[in-house]
Amino acid sequence: MRFQKFSLITGAAGLLGQMHAEALLEIGKNIIISDTNSKSLNNLKIKLKNKFKDSNILAEVMNVTSEKSIKSLLKNVKKKKIVVDVLLNNAIIDHKFKSKNNFSNKTRLENYSLDMWKEEIDVGLTGPVLCSRVFGLEMIKKNVSGVIINIGSELSVIAPNQKIYSINSSKIKPVKPVTYSVIKHGIVGLTKYIATYWADQNIRCNCLSPGPIDQGQDKKFLKKVNNQIPLKRLANRDEYKGAIKFLCSDESSYMNGHNLIMDGGRSIW
Ligand SMILES: NC(=O)c1ccc[n+]([C@@H]2O[C@H](COP(=O)([O-])OP(=O)(O)OC[C@H]3O[C@@H](n4cnc5c(N)ncnc54)[C@H](O)[C@@H]3O)[C@@H](O)[C@H]2O)c1
Repeated sequence: MRFQKFSLITGAAGLLGQMHAEALLEIGKNIIISDTNSKSLNNLKIKLKNKFKDSNILAEVMNVTSEKSIKSLLKNVKKKKIVVDVLLNNAIIDHKFKSKNNFSNKTRLENYSLDMWKEEIDVGLTGPVLCSRVFGLEMIKKNVSGVIINIGSELSVIAPNQKIYSINSSKIKPVKPVTYSVIKHGIVGLTKYIATYWADQNIRCNCLSPGPIDQGQDKKFLKKVNNQIPLKRLANRDEYKGAIKFLCSDESSYMNGHNLIMDGGRSIW
């Protein structure tokens, strides 16, 4: 039975998801964009269809924390004679320091609720384990050479410098939460684990660790972050597309278990 190969992106409806999708479409891949947010997902599908007219794009709601939801996507695509040969583990719950709502004390270690911890670890770490297991096993079953890309961060290799999140308030002292560090360090471990576990099954696994993206953050915040980056600026949203193309294609055929850090040099200072 002949199968069509598709690349699957989790958490595709967020800031970077569209860029990953465009990168894959630009190198001629068929894609499945997935997310829990069905409205944003459908809007993204329309945008991508307008830009890449002859492309094959499926939009599927999938919750990476639910094995049932992941297996249901697998079932749906199998019916269409599709096999996922590229999996991009991208979904996250991130407390972005963009809106004023995030400037609170709830992310501080001493206040962090166990519910938030569990929910975020579930999306950021358990999700990639479940998706890799379900789709990795299917790649093996269908005997296709597969690629799994995990999305890390510069916080996969360094600790957050909490000074950049401080605001002039004696009462509110926001921080980047502990979950993000644990998830992003953990994802590098998962990458190495899968890279060795399935190396003999023709599955490669690598991690892309981007630095922060310019999304119109507060000027004071930007100044503080820029001072920590040798290139003195945040990344443009599209600056990781080249890396995605490289990691998801045969151009990186001898790369396995690597953490590709693209952070303007922030983590080497
Ligand atoms: N934005 C940055 O500056 C930056 C920097 C470094 C690394 N990263 C990493 O890049 C990746 C994408 O980041 P982003 O900025 O696009 O994030 P985002 O918050 O904009 O998007 C995340 C997406 O994940 C989805 N999601 C949340 N829970 C889910 C679940 N249970 N199942 C499926 N989808 C779920 C959300 O609906 C959202 O669309 C993340 O892994 C993030 O850690 C981002």
